[in-house]
Amino acid sequence: MCGIVGYIGHRDAYPIIIKGLQRLEYRGYDSAGIALFDGSDINLSKTKGKVEHLKKKAEESMSLKGGLGIGHTRWATHGIPNDENSHPHISNSGDLVIVHNGIIENYESIKKELTKRGYNFHSDTDTEVLVNLIEEVKKKEDVKLGHAVQIALSEVVGAYAIAIIDRNKPDEIVVAKLGSPLAIGVGENEFFIASDASPFIEYTNNAVYLADEEMAIVRLGKEIKLRKIKDDAIAYPNIMELKLNIEEIEKGGYDHFMLKEIYEQPRAILDTYRGRLNVDQGLIKMAGIDDNLERFMNADRIIIVACGTSWHAGLVAEYIFEDLARIPVEVEYASEFRYRNPVITDKDVVIAISQSGETADTLAAIKLAKANGAFVFGVCNVVGSSIARETDAGAYTHAGPEIGVASTKAFTTQITVLTLVALKLAKEKGVFPESKYHEFLIELESIPSKVERALESNALVEIIAEVHKNATNCLYLGRGYNFPVALEGALKLKEISYIHAEGYPAAEMKHGPIALIDQQMPVFVIATKKGHYDKVVSNIQEIKSRKGKIIAIVTEGDSQVKELADHVIEVPETIESLTPLLTTIPLQLLSYHIAVMRGCNVDQPRNLAKSVTVE
Ligand code: M6R
Repeated sequence: MCGIVGYIGHRDAYPIIIKGLQRLEYRGYDSAGIALFDGSDINLSKTKGKVEHLKKKAEESMSLKGGLGIGHTRWATHGIPNDENSHPHISNSGDLVIVHNGIIENYESIKKELTKRGYNFHSDTDTEVLVNLIEEVKKKEDVKLGHAVQIALSEVVGAYAIAIIDRNKPDEIVVAKLGSPLAIGVGENEFFIASDASPFIEYTNNAVYLADEEMAIVRLGKEIKLRKIKDDAIAYPNIMELKLNIEEIEKGGYDHFMLKEIYEQPRAILDTYRGRLNVDQGLIKMAGIDDNLERFMNADRIIIVACGTSWHAGLVAEYIFEDLARIPVEVEYASEFRYRNPVITDKDVVIAISQSGETADTLAAIKLAKANGAFVFGVCNVVGSSIARETDAGAYTHAGPEIGVASTKAFTTQITVLTLVALKLAKEKGVFPESKYHEFLIELESIPSKVERALESNALVEIIAEVHKNATNCLYLGRGYNFPVALEGALKLKEISYIHAEGYPAAEMKHGPIALIDQQMPVFVIATKKGHYDKVVSNIQEIKSRKGKIIAIVTEGDSQVKELADHVIEVPETIESLTPLLTTIPLQLLSYHIAVMRGCNVDQPRNLAKSVTVE
């Protein structure tokens, strides 16, 4: 969702901010803007459309000098995407300029009050209300900017990450956070502000991540002043050293981040189990589980909360946990869980899965679970993210930055982590035969090389994509462990190629979707040898007799499905529980190629954001 970049220091702020906004494009946005202090005043340029468009506009219309500035990519919530609603927003006096990621829920009542006091508004945004509220507080209370921000934020309801500058105080940026992410990059006599570290990682590895309800005054030549918004308590900035490097957030010769990330999966899965899985000793080491083993062993059940692709990984995990560790599992959409008054007890373990670690609904579900006494374990990719900090314990996936909006390597690495957890608990509980356990460890270790082999289907997948690129509807079917893969395959196609697609458990087809099948309808069926193979073959026959076009994902060497399907894509054989790590690969490639062939913006599909920080 919205992206924030800011800079204060000895360099020109403009190129740093523009490049930073480009790095944040993956988050999803519809307009962009920048404000720079040129030594005497703040100049501003903003526009609907891409950062490239903003760059052109700014370079034609304003002075680009100055070592202080803030920039923004906006994903519209209040007010349509247009120039006026784009950020930065300026206060009525022209003194204060703000960028904001989040939603101020009570902005209408504040706007009414401010209007009564003579304030004018030029946009439909909640953000313009916030900057004027800060201005009003500053004037009325006769306080400095930092103090005014603090008072104003205590009056608002909602979520925010903000950066605000004052033309009368051009040696500082004031920032604050609740619910939306914000990091401060700490350089030599310079500071960077950003929604994540990607805009500043080439300048500094040192960063401070603001916690919820924290604000900071970032002043040139001074240490960062951090304090709690509510009770004014001073907090000490914890400067983290980041391991991220610049190559990881660039395309590395691929046309799109999504394709790069699909091809990174063998490495990402390996990095995710490296140091945790020791096949020789038959051990799985995970500090987050080892330190809290009692909670897991005494759990009545596990509740998994997540959204989107992470929710699909949760569904795979449900099968693994119940199958291997015999622990009852419920998988919930975080957005439903948080509002449906669920029964949660202190005997529950809640696992929250999130690539970004910033998804607002998942974060709220975690808070609800914690408030009811549950132990919450996080599975996140982004180190230091809000969910990673909010959970009681957790395990990172080591996928590396995922920039493409369509999740790919996050999915397979989440399944990898959750498989490790399930195996570990199965062993601790003694419910999984030792010989099978060992076979499982060996097989898990072989998955990266099997994913490499699954990736070799790319040329064939491209041919299949060419045949089906103009489809208007597609069906994805799978059973057991591959039912969530069918859902995930359909989601991938929908979100980047805008083709309507549905995922279904193959056996459910007879209860409705079979009516859709005709000769125009491509049906993607996951029919691997392990896992209800004969049943799926019957389902394929049912589709064939209704003239549907069948594209089947099968186990290497399969001959039976080959007879029936229009196309088959082979993946290596593995243990049934691990098949999702392989069967998902051709489906990712398929949606990628179809989207490219249809001329879609693969990495930044319309209306979507990489991290959904509003509910
Ligand atoms: O960062 P998270 O894993 O919490 O994100 C959850 C969903 O927003 C995300 O998986 C989304 O569905 C992806 N665009 C799917 O490709």
